[in-house]
Amino acid sequence: MDHFDWRGGALHAEDVDLAEIAAAVGTPFYCYSTATLERHVRVFDEALAGMPHLVCYAMKANSNLAVLRVVIRAGAGCDVVSGGELRRALAAGCPAEKIVFSGVGKTAEEIALALDAGIRQFNVESEPELVEIDRIAREKGLRAPVALRVNPDVDAKTHAKISTGKAEDKFGIPISRARAIYAAAGRMAGIAVVGIDVHIGSQITTLEPYEAAFLKVRELALALRQDGHDIRRLDLGGGLGIPYRRANEAPPLPFDYGEVVRRTVGDLGCEIEVEPGRLIVGNAGVLVSRVIYRKSGEGRDFLILDAAMNDLIRPAMYDAWHDVVPLRQPAPGAAVAPVDLVGPVCESGDTFARQRELPHLEAGDLVAFRSAGAYGAVMSSEYNSRPLIPEVLVSGSRFDVVRPRPTYDEMLARERIPDWLA
Ligand code: LLP
Repeated sequence: MDHFDWRGGALHAEDVDLAEIAAAVGTPFYCYSTATLERHVRVFDEALAGMPHLVCYAMKANSNLAVLRVVIRAGAGCDVVSGGELRRALAAGCPAEKIVFSGVGKTAEEIALALDAGIRQFNVESEPELVEIDRIAREKGLRAPVALRVNPDVDAKTHAKISTGKAEDKFGIPISRARAIYAAAGRMAGIAVVGIDVHIGSQITTLEPYEAAFLKVRELALALRQDGHDIRRLDLGGGLGIPYRRANEAPPLPFDYGEVVRRTVGDLGCEIEVEPGRLIVGNAGVLVSRVIYRKSGEGRDFLILDAAMNDLIRPAMYDAWHDVVPLRQPAPGAAVAPVDLVGPVCESGDTFARQRELPHLEAGDLVAFRSAGAYGAVMSSEYNSRPLIPEVLVSGSRFDVVRPRPTYDEMLARERIPDWLA
């Protein structure tokens, strides 16, 4: 459930008419709903009720400081994957003891930063990374709290580009070698083993892969305890999918996911950590865009929008579907016809949707791409020298611009022409 609804024929974010925001900030823009973000954190919390747990929001999905602040105030910690994200999490007010640091290639500088900040846990992805964390921690006279990310070789049955838990994926330590590497970790003076980490992929829409992965983690936890390790935390990663096609998708709910956690590892006495990203913020955001032109092609019509692949790359990159709705509610029973939704960027990949059934729209009309809160703004670029688009946060009847649209001068001012070209 989210807080984007029709009211009096106009699409609202909570109590604010999106067309009003469009008039104030121009298009295109991203808009996020505070109540939806809060609700999603709460739902995850409730799903894990009865087990000691911490929801660490995977901020790669949307790292705007205001979004982070909402999620942190709702009680979540953060899952970070870079020194930049760590700095953002701290800047947004996340207590260091609620920050877990994931990511395949942490640099010495990032490791030092995280140790100095006193983060909760490193999720370590390889033996060389473990050695490096140990070295830096010893230099500082510290012990780094560590979970090893194991690769359970489970097929998450999701898009190939976002599957992470198969043996051929670059992530984690093969589960078959985990005991040996834990033994090495146990001998390192700069390392304190605190748990096990696993993450099998993103936009996962069935529970079976989770069940399979968590059972493997369970087995490993028992074995590691026998080996004398203090396995007190299980980080189960993120990845729970959201309904992108509202009309015909119903992925499992956090509650169902929580039941799988309870059934597979709930009796181990471990603190459960989860790293949802998309589920927290995906359906808490929309991308609003204006039709620049309607053009008739050979056998098909195109709506050319002022948003493009540089603003929302998911359709081009993953063939992702985003529901599109006009901001002005169509009359009941209004005719729909197929139309291609495209941006102005100079490549055919800049296509949001082909032959989408929509009511008739003309130049000047506004549309919203639903489910655009996750992996939208964070993956945007200035391709074609299109400045980044603004982000707006709504709370009840208030809204504020939480990342302004840069001016063209600001965009150009970041670059330099060397003296020898003067
Ligand atoms: N934890 C780890 C270690 C991850 O790598 C990820 C996502 C998450 C948690 C959060 O997964 P989520 O709950 O959001 O599914 N750009 C792609 C998604 C990439 C996901 C990368 N890792 C997309 O737009 O679909």
